[in-house]
Amino acid sequence: MVHSTCYTKHHLLISMDKLIVEGGYKLSGTVNISGSKNASLPILAASILTDEPVRISRVPDVSDTNYMIQILSQLGASVERSSGTVRIESPDGISSSASYDQVRKMRASICLLGPIMARMHRCTLPLPGGCVIGDRPVDLHVRAIQALGARVRIKGGNLVMEAPNGLIGTTVDMRGDSGPTVLGTDNLMMAAVLAKGTTIIESAAREPEVVDLANFLNKMGARIEGAGSRTITIHGVEKLHGCEHTVIPDRIEAGTFMVAAAMVSDGLQINRVCRKHIQAMADLLVECGHVVEFDEEGTSVFVKPGERPRSGKILTAPYPGYPTDMQAQMTALFALTPGISVVKDTIFPQRFMHCSELKRMGANIKVDNGTAIITGVEGLSGAPVMASDLRASAALVLAALAAEGTTEIHRLYHIDRGYEMLDEKLMMLGARVQRVLDTDARNIED
Ligand code: UD1
Repeated sequence: MVHSTCYTKHHLLISMDKLIVEGGYKLSGTVNISGSKNASLPILAASILTDEPVRISRVPDVSDTNYMIQILSQLGASVERSSGTVRIESPDGISSSASYDQVRKMRASICLLGPIMARMHRCTLPLPGGCVIGDRPVDLHVRAIQALGARVRIKGGNLVMEAPNGLIGTTVDMRGDSGPTVLGTDNLMMAAVLAKGTTIIESAAREPEVVDLANFLNKMGARIEGAGSRTITIHGVEKLHGCEHTVIPDRIEAGTFMVAAAMVSDGLQINRVCRKHIQAMADLLVECGHVVEFDEEGTSVFVKPGERPRSGKILTAPYPGYPTDMQAQMTALFALTPGISVVKDTIFPQRFMHCSELKRMGANIKVDNGTAIITGVEGLSGAPVMASDLRASAALVLAALAAEGTTEIHRLYHIDRGYEMLDEKLMMLGARVQRVLDTDARNIED
């Protein structure tokens, strides 16, 4: 079996870097948005549904995609990566179990459940543990695969699933207490493409990343209808084949640069976006008094700070509502916006770790019961701060760019999980940022 994995960057080990940001320098110029991390992960996982080669372009070089590639290699796939294109070939006889060491590094590895079950009819996957942004259960994923006829037990911290006679299509409602589940919908879709008969997913997640996965699977020969709506129908097929696919732009990276532009720029041109995917973020910035102008095709957007910024309100919601993955970045903007802003996260009510760090920079924020109340201050001041999760770290970078003085952001590996070359992109726009080895990292981790 061939295992030819080559990685283009340094993301294989957890980086002990920190980011030093000299605040107060206005950004200007043009930035290109990378391919979507959250679309890439299930698409990479889905590549094992066929024994033929697949080529996926615009896979961002971030540690999460590298973890996924590592797991695929461990399962027995042959993976080659060069300049954003990943070629994967998964011969017969790939393994049905992933190791705890790999899976624990990335919760999204749960999206291997569907493709492994579809291809092998059995799967042993370590249960992902807790996480800083909340409890993050996987009950809906399990329920979905069970509904297709799999037997499930938990053994030694692993989810062990078996369907010796294959999976059988049925109707499954994917709605949980906090709305539809994105990766749960992905898992069910991937499991159902090779199941016998038809599967109907009710209360499906409508996120663009789910649609991108469905498009990828259809290119492989799957028969999926309705992705992007509440009901997805999957007619099972016997076999899938190889294909080529380009991943959609990362709407959260785009949103993060839009917030940076509104906070601390003379105007930024943000290219390779999809207007529809970032409309909720654009609308909120406009409501808050900022300038947002799309080009005719909706693939490029110009954003600059408004003359009279206003406070705002966010209630996170599944797509097309305001994404939970963008509330931390907007909290950084609200910290410097006159008036009182309110951010309520109904999807991950504990996702406010960034607030205590922003307070250390001078922000006035009260967090209570899944809601942050932010009273705008005139200025933030640089401070040593600690990144706690991916989007919280992005909020700290934005605050640091706008703050007076120097900010040191520790635990940069959180940012490296999901933002491709963030420091390089910011430098190109005129920011003064420097990635350095965090010699104190050991003490900080303790
Ligand atoms: C995905 C995104 C993540 C984003 C989230 C919500 C990826 C790799 N990650 O995560 O960036 O923040 O969508 O938009 O795409 N839930 C259950 N039971 C389950 C599964 C989920 O109760 O079995 C709950 C969750 O706790 C949460 C809600 O459902 O309250 C939505 O979570 P979900 O959409 O599943 O998040 P992910 O798909 O893991």
